[in-house]
Amino acid sequence: MTSKEIREAFLAFFKNKSHQIVPSAPVVVKNDPTLMFTNAGMNQFKDLFLGEAQAKYSRVADTQRCLRVSGKHNDLEEVGIDTYHHTLFEMLGNWSFGDYFKKEAIAWAWELMTEVYKLDKDRLYVTIFEGDEKEGLARDMEAFDFWKALIAEDRILLGNKKDNFWEMGETGPCGPCSEIHYDMRPDAERQQVGGHELVNADHEQVIEIWNLVFMQFNRLKNGSLETLPAQNVDTGMGFERLVRAIQGKTSNYDTDVFQPMIQFIAEKSGIVYGADVKTDVAMRVLVDHIRAVSFAIADGQLPSNNKAGYVIRRILRRAVRYAYTFLGFKTPFFNELVPLLSAQFAGVFDELSQQESFVQKVVLEEEVSFLRTLTTGIQRFENYVADHAQVDGDFAFELFDTYGFPIDLTDLLSREKGLSVDMEGFQKALQAQKERSRAATAIDTGDWVLVQEDEETEFVGYDYLEATTQIVKYRKVTAKGKEQYQLVLSVTPFYPEGGGQVGDTGVLVSEANEKVYITDTKKENGLIVHFVNQLPPVLEGDFKATVNKDKRIDTENNHSATHLLHAALKQVLGDHVNQKGSMVSPEVLRFDVSHFAKITYDEIKQVEDIVNARIRANIALKEERQVPYQQAIDSGVTALFGEKYGDYVRVITFDDAFSKELCGGTHVSSTSQIGFFKITSESAVAAGVRRIEAITGTHAYAVIREQFELVDKLRELMNNPKDFVSSIGKLIEDNSDLRKAVENSIRERSLALMSDLTSKVENINGVNFLAVEVDLPNADAVKTLTYALKGAVENVFIVIGADFDGKPSLTVAISDELAKEKGWNAGAIVKDLAKDIQGGGGGQPFFATAGGKLSAGLVKAIARAKDFVN
Ligand code: SER
Repeated sequence: MTSKEIREAFLAFFKNKSHQIVPSAPVVVKNDPTLMFTNAGMNQFKDLFLGEAQAKYSRVADTQRCLRVSGKHNDLEEVGIDTYHHTLFEMLGNWSFGDYFKKEAIAWAWELMTEVYKLDKDRLYVTIFEGDEKEGLARDMEAFDFWKALIAEDRILLGNKKDNFWEMGETGPCGPCSEIHYDMRPDAERQQVGGHELVNADHEQVIEIWNLVFMQFNRLKNGSLETLPAQNVDTGMGFERLVRAIQGKTSNYDTDVFQPMIQFIAEKSGIVYGADVKTDVAMRVLVDHIRAVSFAIADGQLPSNNKAGYVIRRILRRAVRYAYTFLGFKTPFFNELVPLLSAQFAGVFDELSQQESFVQKVVLEEEVSFLRTLTTGIQRFENYVADHAQVDGDFAFELFDTYGFPIDLTDLLSREKGLSVDMEGFQKALQAQKERSRAATAIDTGDWVLVQEDEETEFVGYDYLEATTQIVKYRKVTAKGKEQYQLVLSVTPFYPEGGGQVGDTGVLVSEANEKVYITDTKKENGLIVHFVNQLPPVLEGDFKATVNKDKRIDTENNHSATHLLHAALKQVLGDHVNQKGSMVSPEVLRFDVSHFAKITYDEIKQVEDIVNARIRANIALKEERQVPYQQAIDSGVTALFGEKYGDYVRVITFDDAFSKELCGGTHVSSTSQIGFFKITSESAVAAGVRRIEAITGTHAYAVIREQFELVDKLRELMNNPKDFVSSIGKLIEDNSDLRKAVENSIRERSLALMSDLTSKVENINGVNFLAVEVDLPNADAVKTLTYALKGAVENVFIVIGADFDGKPSLTVAISDELAKEKGWNAGAIVKDLAKDIQGGGGGQPFFATAGGKLSAGLVKAIARAKDFVN
């Protein structure tokens, strides 16, 4: 079977068992503060397990793109070195939400493995959870019994909590699991050592393929386990490993998932895959990392300097580093893998093929800038090793952190120079950095405290800004030392931050008229949480929840204007323009789009014209809340990449022929409410991404008024000329002419002093000496004079004093020969003389200046100058 057939067979198998096949969620996670990237197929169903949302289908299956490069599940350092870990991998999964449980999950897994995929029963092993006394959990005898009906008892192995109790993260859904392992070793080896000895022992050829988790618990912050409302199944099968098992390969990278790209690299580098360990590792790193990088970008996460963006940048740099050092690619190459990958995933994850050129461009730009950094890094390394006997840990860390050198590379480079690296020191520095970034972002979230049982929650904010409500539960959160509380309300008019729109703020008033202010509203998976600085004194009973209306209206203006802007940009710039980021607050809207050139002033004007015309056309909002997803897409609606949509979507339309978007935000009821739209800036945020900032409504009005006032004031200052612009132009021109004239006249004055001063030169011991105070207005003029004197008189030592509007200055010039022969130093002399004017200065041996505070001291300084000649 090809990998494509293997994937299709999985989905068909579970479809046949009444599962709904759903799309993969984006790999970049937005609504869960405990996760950066999707790390398991079950992430998108977290709130279904927790009972925070109702499952639409009780059985689903899919292939989910996952990324295990941060947090609890992190395989990055293994990738490329071994043959079965990946950054981005596909997880095939089937789920039951309170429907079937262990029996079916186990039976179907076995059926698929042995009858559809026809894997060798003799090579299969399974594990079950052995129990854990501390957790108070018994051995999973149920799973054991179901397996026993299918497989010889000696192939059912016990696993401990680490291997057989799966948890999503620090907190969240979890449960005992049962894994399926496959032994791919040759028969001779298998006869010597039984596969059951190698299960879960990090053996490259005896690997876990499928994990069946029986989700029954929620791990709380306090470490305890809470029983979930229903018994669920969450299975995850490593697609690339499965393909390897079915295709009978000894490495994931030898399958048709990776070989086409590996062969492409081999051809381009002229290096055969399999020829050498180092180049093999490098090729594996490249073909693996391009997947993580490309899908993260396609799902909306651009490489950057912090958080998820930094993780992606680091993965990209790791790949470029390997390409550069081991495969000889000194110019950008990594990006050339994007089209191959995009073709491979067309029809599976179309997000990439639809944005292929954008993704490739972003990767290319990153490569170009990193290759520049790399050259600097190598230079740093060369300089460093020139005078060090060992590479210390801090320096290795600098190379790692600033220049993206993996530690194994620094080690290799150092060994080539006959040096060793202080690995312990490096680990320490790395640990310290991890600690710093953890402390900077650490959020301590307490467990929920229920105020009332079984309360459904409802969002009414599309229709109301006020509601009578009750507190369902609350918890404490501490971030950066600041304590806050989060509340969940039974009914809420508060819009939670999402789709770029900021969360509502407002107030909660109890029946006893006690108020607490809601400072922000966010969404966590399916749950709407309201932030308050303190809890209401009494938590029970009714509250009136009221949204800050002015802010909401301003925000709506900006959100609807964003839709008009998006449509106008597509009209003016072309259809390649895709939303890459959006921020809608009451004050301003910020909109990022994929576009490869600066948006010209002319294009900006066209966009503004279109948007303002649409505002004046007073187009009524058409809001449809429950449109089947496919129907919406077929009607030509604009959907966003990296967004997870349900089966039913909300469609926001302003004129069917103009703007139609999938959107969960709040909007104006007709466009005239926006009042006016003005773009205030256009800039670059990343390769191929432009940012537009704009204002609307009352804020635009205030800015326009300010601008008018400013211009009025300027006009007044200019005596209200008819043609303001040309008057200013003239003013600037006159000013520059006058400046030139003044400079000329000063220069003339200083030169006029020349003949007078040359006559004052005294010859002392063969040195032509002159010390005098002159009346010149600035340092330039004195400099001109001093240089002229120095040029005109041989063997000269000059000290000139001057007073510039109360600021005394001294200038010392010495003929070059004198400075050289006698070792006189104008800088040292001026420093000494400057004491008399309470100042300091310096310069070169033949010319130096000083400024001071005491003009009266000039006389003394000039008198003292003679001492130096004597
Ligand atoms: N959540 C489990 C895993 O990731 C099974 O899907 O292994």
